[in-house]
Parts: sequence; C-alpha cells; structure tokens
Amino acid sequence: MEVKSTSPKKRSKTRPLAASGTVHQHIDEQRWAYLRDLVRFLEIPSISTLPAHKPDMERAAAFVREQLTEAGMQRVRSIDLGGPPLVVGEWLGAPGKPTILIYGHYDVQPVDPLSEWQTPPFEPDIRDGNIYARGATDDKGQVLAMILAVRAQMATAGSLPVNVRFLIEGEEEYGGASIERYVREHADEIPCDAVLIADTHMLAPGQPSIVYGVRGMLYTELVARGAAHDLHSGTYGGVAPNPLHALALIIAGLKGVDGHINIPGLYELAQPVTDEERGWWARQPGDPVARLAAEMGVDVFPGEQDYSLPERMAARPTLEVHGFIGGFQQEGAKTVIPAEARAKVSLRLVPDQTAENVLPLLQARVAELTPPGVTVEVKNIHGGLGMVLDVHNPYVAAASAALAEEFGRATVFLREGGSIPIAPLFAAQLGAPVVFAGYGLADEGLHAPNEHFNLENFYHGIHGTVRFLQHVAEVTR
Ligand code: BES
Ligand code: MN
Ligand code: MN
Repeated sequence: MEVKSTSPKKRSKTRPLAASGTVHQHIDEQRWAYLRDLVRFLEIPSISTLPAHKPDMERAAAFVREQLTEAGMQRVRSIDLGGPPLVVGEWLGAPGKPTILIYGHYDVQPVDPLSEWQTPPFEPDIRDGNIYARGATDDKGQVLAMILAVRAQMATAGSLPVNVRFLIEGEEEYGGASIERYVREHADEIPCDAVLIADTHMLAPGQPSIVYGVRGMLYTELVARGAAHDLHSGTYGGVAPNPLHALALIIAGLKGVDGHINIPGLYELAQPVTDEERGWWARQPGDPVARLAAEMGVDVFPGEQDYSLPERMAARPTLEVHGFIGGFQQEGAKTVIPAEARAKVSLRLVPDQTAENVLPLLQARVAELTPPGVTVEVKNIHGGLGMVLDVHNPYVAAASAALAEEFGRATVFLREGGSIPIAPLFAAQLGAPVVFAGYGLADEGLHAPNEHFNLENFYHGIHGTVRFLQHVAEVTR
C-alpha cells in the first residue's frame, strides 16, 4: 500500500491534544502502527459467501486472534462451528466491575462489479482521508478499532477498567447461522452486563450517534413454473403461461407505486412508533432531503409519502426485488417463453414482525396473485429479527457520554434500516442491553464498489471505545 497525501498523523479537529502519559496520547503515537494493522486486515479477501475463499476466512480469523493476543486478551481461540471460525478472547481481571461483550464480524461482502472499483478491493488505498477496500467500514475497520482500544488501554495501564469478552464472527454477511447456534447453546458461558457492537453508521461526519433500532429481514426466492419446457413464442404465444410475466404481475401486486405493501395482515403485526422517537426524528440535525440527494444521486424518494423520511428508512417495513432470473438474458433477441423464472424478493421487518409470522402472509398473497397455468413457490432463504432497544439504561448512557466527549458534540439517537440479526438474540439469550456505537458513515459504500472508511473515524473509534470502557467502570451493577 502506498500512503499518499493524507498523513494519518494529522490530528482530529474535534479533539484537542491528548494529555501526555495518557492512553489517548499513546493512541496518537501509535497511529501509523495501527494503520498498518488495518491495511493487513483489509488485504485478506475474507468473502464468506464464496466457497473459494475458505482459506482466506482462516487467515482473517488468524489475524483477529493475533490482534486479540497482542491486546493482552486471554483464552484467545477459534471455535469451529462448521462455517468460518468464531474468534473469541477475554480479559476478566476486574472483579465486581461490569463485563462488556464486544461483537463484530471479519467477513466481507463479494466485490462485484469489480470494474467499478477505482483501486483493487483488496489493495487498500488511502485517498482524501479515507481508506478504500472491501470491508473497510463494514466491518473490519470498526472491529479493529475496538480491539485496538483494548490494546492501548492494556499497553498503558496494564489492565482494563472493566471485564471484556470478544466474539468476532466470520459469517455475518451470509446469515450468521453458526454464531446464532453458539449463542443459543452456550449463553451461560458468556455472561455479560452489556453488548457493544460497532457495525452501524453515524448520522453525519462529526455527529456522534447511537443506533437504538435495526430492522429484521425475510429474504425469499420466488420460483415460478409454467409449461414443461421452453416454448416458441410465436407458436404458443397467446395460449402459454409465462412465468416471467407472472412474477412481474406478482411483484407489482405485492407493492404499489405508493410504497404500500399489499400483504394483508403485515402492518397489523408492527409495533407502533413512540412519541419519543418521533421527537428524535423531528429534532435530527441536518436536512434529510439534501443529505439523501447527495448520498443517492436522485432527488425523488418514492415510497410512502405520508411518513417522514427517517420513519420510512427505519421504522416501516419494506419490500424490495433484488434480481430476476429467467428467459433470455444475452445480447440480441430470442423469441422464447421460459418454462421457469425466479425472483429474489426480501422484506425488511420491524418489531414484532418475524420471518415466521410474515412468511405465511407472503405465501398466501403470492398464491392469490399467481395467474392461471403458473405455480409459484416462495422459498425462505434467510431471516432475522429486528429490534428496538430501550435506551434508558446506564450502558447506553455511558456510550452516549463517551461519544459526546470524543466528538465534542451531543450524541443523537438513530434507528437504522439495516439488519444485525444476532443483536436481538444477544438481548434475549444474555439478558443484556445492546449498545450500537458505530463509527461508519452511510455513504461509505458498504456492500458496494469503492467501500471506504474515514481514517479520522477509525481513530475516533479507538479513542471512543476507550472512553466507553472508562464510563462503564462507573456503572454500578
Ligand atoms: N453492518 C451491516 C448492517 C447495517 C447496515 C446496520 C446499515 C446499520 C446500517 C451488516 O453487515 C449487514 O450488512 N447486514 C445484512 C444482514 C442480512 C444479511 C441479514 C443486511 O442488513 O442486509
Ligand atoms: Mn456489518
Ligand atoms: Mn454488511
């Protein structure tokens, strides 16, 4: 990697010089070393969904073990659950103090379309104060910041103010089934007082943010079948069922141009939003229209016009089609009526909608919309719960204070549209509040070409996590 114009030694504008001899000064002195570790992490193509990358999953897990060991964690090991290893480590040297479980993921999304990347996805490049690589913001940069916070604290004080357990998985981007099983079966082995997750964004640059809600997910594939085999559209057009057209009709029937999802019973399952959160949305700093226009490159936002943008993006269920497969996909023309067609369709869910209670409603509606001569099967690919968490607890207060201190500005509370299905499971199985304190930005290209992470936010993540642990030490259990 070539380090160009931006020197990582350049100090954040929002934070004054750290007092000498402190952990914060140590972090400032280690900026280059930490950056080199981040580069090494980002060079590993740990794409969990592609079987060819299995050896890279092992390499990424080994890197995480090395970092945890370097940070002074004990019982560092990989747990084999069938998929990519779950990496764990702990430090329990603060008896009587709270225990924080720190979760993140070392796996990344595929890189396609590769031609859209300005620099290769696994050759980290620094431009304009950002580091560009697949996984930079989701979630390697954020995971490493949390580990480095612990390492800096251990290096300067020789101990931590609280107990910590790390659980870093390598399967998040394709469903996280292994860690789910692990948490269900071994909850009693990982007792904790709160869970810290850095895998979300801030509202805007410099604006410390705590996420108090994430949406759930039901990802399906619709498989439509018509005639016994493909047919000539001249010979049989007019009498043959067309599965591709059937899927178009079905998808149009599932959601109208008004953004309303036409699945009877779906909205009735949703928990209403509270006056408190409507207040947060109304007081959110900045203009959401301008921000979205800049991020998305469009200035019309189709969907439910009767709801505010923040509510539509996080607190309303959505239905999206991600892909159509079937028929003739190449250049030119082929007059065929396909015998089979598929569509990838997902719903983002809000509490108390679940994959289990929504799937039958979707299946019933698809059956109702299916035209004659076609059968449609609705396959459940994966699902996960959403959550809205009660922010009135001392661990969220500790995070809110830590972030406000780090950024020099009051922390805001956000509800996110994305999904982190393990989070509600942690809450249910461990009985511990979840704290989403993330350092990403929404426009950092997660799951897209040219993913990047702002380097100042990488360092803020290290300092901020140190501050969080210090605040947690003041919490009486
Ligand atoms: N870090 C994201 C989740 C996220 C995205 C949280 C945006 C907040 C804002 C996570 O890695 C992710 O991509 N989750 C998937 C989960 C799915 C595969 C069940 C998602 O949201 O699509
Ligand atoms: Mn993530
Ligand atoms: Mn992701």
